[in-house]
Amino acid sequence: MSKNILILPGDGIGPEIVAEARKVLEATDKKMGLGLSFDEDLMGGCSIDAHGVPLADGALEKARAADAILLGAVGGPQWDTLDRSIRPEQGLLQIRSKLELFANLRPALLYPQLVDASSLKPEVVSGLDILIVRELTGGIYFGKPRGIRTLDNGEREGYNTYVYKESEIERIGRIAFEMARKRQGRVCSVDKANVLEVTMLWREVMDRLAPEYPDVELSHMYVDNAAMQLVRAPKQFDVLVTGNMFGDILSDAAAMLTGSIGMLPSASLNKDGRGMYEPCHGSAPDIAGQGLANPLATILSAAMMLRYSLGMAEAADAIEAAVGDVLDQGLRTADIVTDGSKKVSTKEMGDAVVNSLSR
Ligand code: IPM
Ligand code: MG
Repeated sequence: MSKNILILPGDGIGPEIVAEARKVLEATDKKMGLGLSFDEDLMGGCSIDAHGVPLADGALEKARAADAILLGAVGGPQWDTLDRSIRPEQGLLQIRSKLELFANLRPALLYPQLVDASSLKPEVVSGLDILIVRELTGGIYFGKPRGIRTLDNGEREGYNTYVYKESEIERIGRIAFEMARKRQGRVCSVDKANVLEVTMLWREVMDRLAPEYPDVELSHMYVDNAAMQLVRAPKQFDVLVTGNMFGDILSDAAAMLTGSIGMLPSASLNKDGRGMYEPCHGSAPDIAGQGLANPLATILSAAMMLRYSLGMAEAADAIEAAVGDVLDQGLRTADIVTDGSKKVSTKEMGDAVVNSLSR
C-alpha cells in the first residue's frame, strides 16, 4: 500500500533543504521498498504570491488527505509588512490548528561528532538527549480575544489571551508521560505558576495525571529557571513538557546546545499520530539560494516521519545512521563547521547521506 507524502517546501531555504530530504526519502524507498509517493504544494509566502493567502484550500485538502506532511520553512522580509492575517506564518499556524497537530516533539540530541560545534563546554553538553514536548494548537498563540485596539485617549493597546482548557493540558501531558516511558522516565513540566493562573491550572492537571504513570517521575519548573537550567546543566532534563509559547522559546535555546539549530528536527502530531514534520529552524532568507543551509534537520524530520506516522522504524534508523555516518566522515555545512572538518554545501550534504544509505 503506497504512502502519500505531501511536501510543502515553503520559502527561503525551505525548497533547498526539502529537496535534499526528498532525495534521501527516495533513496531509502529504493533500497527498502517502502512504497512512498510524493506530491508538492505551496504554503507561506510563496502561496501568498500565487494565491493571495498563505494556505489555500487546495493545499489544506491535500494536507488532510496525505499520510504525512514534510514542511521546509515559511516567511521572509518581503511579506513582513502584510496584514497579520495573511502573513506566511499564518499558513503554518492554520495548518497546525486545522489538522489538530497539538503535540510538537522537538528532540534536542547532541551528536558526539558535534560536541565542539556547541557554544557550551563539551562537559556540559556531551551526551545531551532532551525531548521537548510543546503544546502546539493552544495557549497564547491562539487565545481570543486578541488584537490591537485604540483606547479612549487615542493610545493604542495590543492584547493577547493566554488560555488552556484542562482537556488540552491533559492530552499534551499524556504524550509527555508516554514519551518519558520510552526514555529515561522523567518529565519536567515548565510553567509560570507563580504568576499566571493558566499555568497554575497547567501544574494542577500535570499533578493529577502523575499517579497514572507511577513509573515516570514528574517535576515542575518555572520557565525562567528552565531557561537558565538549559544553559547551566541541560543534561538534568529528559522530557520537558510545556505550553506553546514557552516551548517555542525553550526549543530554540535547546537547539543551540546541539551545535546548531540546523540539526533539530520536529514532529507535530494529532491524536492518531498523523502529522507534519519540519525542521525547528526558520526560512533563513539571508542565506537562501546559496547552498549554505544545513539540510540535516529536515532529513532527520523525514526520519521522524517514517518512525512516528508511517510505522517504518527500520527505515528511520537507516536514515539516522546515515546522518551519523556523514558526520563521522567529517562533513559539515557552514553552521557546524569546526577546525579539521570538511565544509560542504547543502546539496553535497544531501548527496553524502544518500551515498551512505546506498552503501
Ligand atoms: C516554530 C516557529 C513558528 C512558531 C513561527 C514561524 C510561527 O518559530 O515553529 O518554532 O512560533 O511556532
Ligand atoms: Mg520557534
